[in-house]
Amino acid sequence: TKGAAMVTAVACRVQAQRKQIDKVLALFQLSREQLIGVRDKMRTELEYGLKKKTHALATVKMLPTFVYGMPDGTEKGKFLALDLGGTNFRVLLVKIRSGRKSVRMYNKIFAIPLEIMQGTGEELFDHIVQCIADFLDYMGLKGAQLPLGFTFSFPCRQTCIDKGTLVGWTKGFKATDCEGEDVVDMLREAIKRRNEFDLDIVAIVNDTVGTMMTCGYEDPNCEIGLIAGEWSSVTPLARFHMTLLRSDGGHCSTARGFSKGTGSNVCYMEEMRNIELVDGDEGQMCINTEWGGFGDNGCIDDICTQYDKEVDEGSLNSGKQRYEKMTSGMYLGEIVRQILIDLTRQGLLFRGQISERLRTKGIFETKFLSQIESDRLALLQVRKILQQLGLDSTCEDSIVVKEVCGAVSRRAAQLCGAGLAAIVEKRREDQGLEHFKVTVGVDGTLYKLHPHFSRILQETVKELAPQCDVTFMLSEDGSGKGAALITAVAKRLQQQEKE
Ligand code: GLC
Repeated sequence: TKGAAMVTAVACRVQAQRKQIDKVLALFQLSREQLIGVRDKMRTELEYGLKKKTHALATVKMLPTFVYGMPDGTEKGKFLALDLGGTNFRVLLVKIRSGRKSVRMYNKIFAIPLEIMQGTGEELFDHIVQCIADFLDYMGLKGAQLPLGFTFSFPCRQTCIDKGTLVGWTKGFKATDCEGEDVVDMLREAIKRRNEFDLDIVAIVNDTVGTMMTCGYEDPNCEIGLIAGEWSSVTPLARFHMTLLRSDGGHCSTARGFSKGTGSNVCYMEEMRNIELVDGDEGQMCINTEWGGFGDNGCIDDICTQYDKEVDEGSLNSGKQRYEKMTSGMYLGEIVRQILIDLTRQGLLFRGQISERLRTKGIFETKFLSQIESDRLALLQVRKILQQLGLDSTCEDSIVVKEVCGAVSRRAAQLCGAGLAAIVEKRREDQGLEHFKVTVGVDGTLYKLHPHFSRILQETVKELAPQCDVTFMLSEDGSGKGAALITAVAKRLQQQEKE
């Protein structure tokens, strides 16, 4: 009959649509072989970055940090720390007590307006010094000569602990006249221009290194620092909600309302004999891998989708940081948005209507991904979230959106895990060990708050580096505490040299 024919037609259409959706989702499902491929390519790039001959062309830059070891618990004193690299800027006073190893921190968060992030270098550093002045006033510290550690979460070429030439901006920054310049000098000059106070800048530190140090202060097995970063500022309320959403009750202790680094990066302790760019063969030094640049030579193009390409083309640094754009919170929402646009264009979502909202860059903050992907969230609530985003969805739409978010964040966690597997395997082999036990210090809200990211990351590392026993340790404010610890160690060494 006619009715039955219509039912069959609808069923056929639904089936055909499902096939189309699955085809798109399949692009994000990586096989074991593909993940092994990523691990092995990462390993090759790590070696390229370390070797003199290949370093200049390497996409994973493997930057020496001149941090030679972990704090030993005897560090003490009062320190200032600056934290630049997320959407905000932070100034901290850190008090470290030896013995009981207690660390107290006071901090103030300052917004960095977009026009300053993307203005001139002088304006950026003048703004930073203005914030420092505010903080010193606020704490009644003007005139105090405190040693300062500067967490600057961008690739820097260092020749010692207190010099760092910016290789190139990443994430949302693009201030002019900074690339190729020593950022410590730029900070010193801005302080001079203001002519109000003097500061003793002792160390420039990447956020991964601060994270490793903070965890190393408590766990001597920690010799790797990982940042799996977030898209933009997370409000305390959203943070609270997301914490509730995490299935394993994961907690988060980053400063309230402060967004950690928004990128993806790793540092680890490497044998000096393997670091060809630095003289000397004894002992170890921490290497800031800057693995976000992995893939910039096209080596993972085989797993890049058209959506990744669109996100890259729409970014501030097109062609650069390809791996970062597949793994860090700053970009995951954008990948999701590109997929949703395409599915809508194919008539598979939102009744085929691409709304103005969907066309708007940045609407899909990672916090929404986290919420949408929570297992405890009923579809009706997913629809509500989409509604909040101005996307009018049906129940079927919300199922598809949830699947898309899941596919994108799952791939991110797996890629990140494959990269980490390359590092722990390298460390195991270099030390000639059958089994290698190591702790990774982690920061970044994607890791801390997303309902599945951390689990998938851990599973992937286990699968791809079965001879390594990797423990993950959440860092408590690595970029603040870590910078202070590094400064404390550097200061101690400075004094020892003088004596
Ligand atoms: C970007 C930066 C890197 C930083 C990471 C996390 O990848 O280049 O230096 O560690 O973001 O903030």
